[in-house]
Amino acid sequence: MRDTLGRDISYLRLSVTDKCNCRCVYCMPAAGVPARAHRDLLTFEELTDIVAAAATLGVRKVRVTGGEPLARRGVVDLVRMLSEVPGIDEVDMTTNATMLAPVAADLRAAGLTRLNVSLDTLRPECYRAITRTGELADALAGLRAAREAGFTNTKINCVLMGGVNDDEIADFVDIARREPIEVRFIELMPMGECARWPRERFVAGEEVLGRVPELVRMGAGGVAELYAAPGFAGRVGLIRAVSHKFCSGCDRIRVTADGRLKPCLHSAAEVSLRGLAGPALAEAIRAGIAAKPAHHNLAPGVRASDTPRDMFEIGG
Ligand code: GTP
Ligand code: 5AD
Ligand code: SF4
Repeated sequence: MRDTLGRDISYLRLSVTDKCNCRCVYCMPAAGVPARAHRDLLTFEELTDIVAAAATLGVRKVRVTGGEPLARRGVVDLVRMLSEVPGIDEVDMTTNATMLAPVAADLRAAGLTRLNVSLDTLRPECYRAITRTGELADALAGLRAAREAGFTNTKINCVLMGGVNDDEIADFVDIARREPIEVRFIELMPMGECARWPRERFVAGEEVLGRVPELVRMGAGGVAELYAAPGFAGRVGLIRAVSHKFCSGCDRIRVTADGRLKPCLHSAAEVSLRGLAGPALAEAIRAGIAAKPAHHNLAPGVRASDTPRDMFEIGG
């Protein structure tokens, strides 16, 4: 379905939990957040019904997000249910990968198409400092297990933070040099925990090109601009959500774990899908798409998103 600006909405991001086993400093408070009561979460059947209704409106791709999607019990079964929905061509997942190794093969067998892995540092102590509770070795084991399970086109997402991990840009680029992986640097979006951080923490995507001048632009790939250099097995992506917003080409909507459709990551607009079925459900999704704003209002130096939600409730 097209929105009021003619954007074709074909991609649904489904947050299946706001729980996470990590406490990344930009995302969650150190103490974590109170767990949402299980009854507030949509059931697998409700999630599948939403995806089926969205498919009738033209959604072809679903990405399972969180919090951390692998923290939701039974998520492999959910992936199987979603991948069987008529009209859905692709079921993907964004994960921190620390709990991926034991379930990678099961996810593949259940029909998961592709994985994006959040990995902000390659140094074990820095990983502990950023995630507070995570171990780099577990995330790397998850990445390895994904490859062994047959997943291809896995992407690495690295959120750049000045004075924290920006000295690792060249090391991350080297992964794309050696391996057929898309390594994407993400500009930190000021929401939730990081909304009040000092300006120096926000690193523009441009910085990557300054540090690795051999990179040349190859084209666009979804929300990322893609770069590479001769001899690269993979690609480097820049997700410049703040300095170069990509809203005019936006193809996505989101559903929060408690069943609210968000037409935009950063806007306050929401439509409740709870308790709806059949034509009423499709109508509510249509209404949500119609309410999709033209663009977000973030810009370098602008402090916060318009949404009152935190990133762990929306799933990025
Ligand atoms: P692909 O299917 O591989 O293209 O995945 P993706 O980039 O859509 O998903 P992923 O979960 O890996 O998101 C990567 C980054 O892009 C995260 O930091 C998201 O928060 C950010 N992002 C995703 N969608 C949007 C959006 O609509 N607006 C903005 N501003 N940022 C977004
Ligand atoms: N700004 C940019 N990216 C973020 N992510 C989480 N919070 C933020 C933020 N404030 C990233 C995660 C994950 C993806 C879904 O979003 O690291 O890779
Ligand atoms: Fe968890 Fe992702 Fe938030 Fe980190 S960014 S705490 S991995 S939801």
